[in-house]
Amino acid sequence: MNKLVPVAKLADLEPGSCLSVEVGGLGVALFNVDGNIYALDNTCPHAGGPLGEGTLHGDVVECPWHGWRFNVRTGEKPQNPDFKVSGYPVEIKEGLIHVSIPAEPPP
Ligand code: FES
Repeated sequence: MNKLVPVAKLADLEPGSCLSVEVGGLGVALFNVDGNIYALDNTCPHAGGPLGEGTLHGDVVECPWHGWRFNVRTGEKPQNPDFKVSGYPVEIKEGLIHVSIPAEPPP
């Protein structure tokens, strides 16, 4: 079961930018691609880099640690879809970005 949690103001995430937030014990990376908001697990599957502190190129984020890239719409690494980052559903309500996360915190 999931719950919808407000995580940031939409105004704090300009188009072309990303942001790291912590919610319910989870690190979440937020991305604004031309006004559409996406949320992925903040932890890069290579070595744990914070994807929300990376650089956004269109709909692809480049990890700040070693440059692995992931499509923020799908979470897939374009060159190797075996590496995939989990995504979270997003809703915008009253100027706030809400992310749907598991109701129970991770163990
Ligand atoms: S930790 Fe992300 S590319 Fe290495």
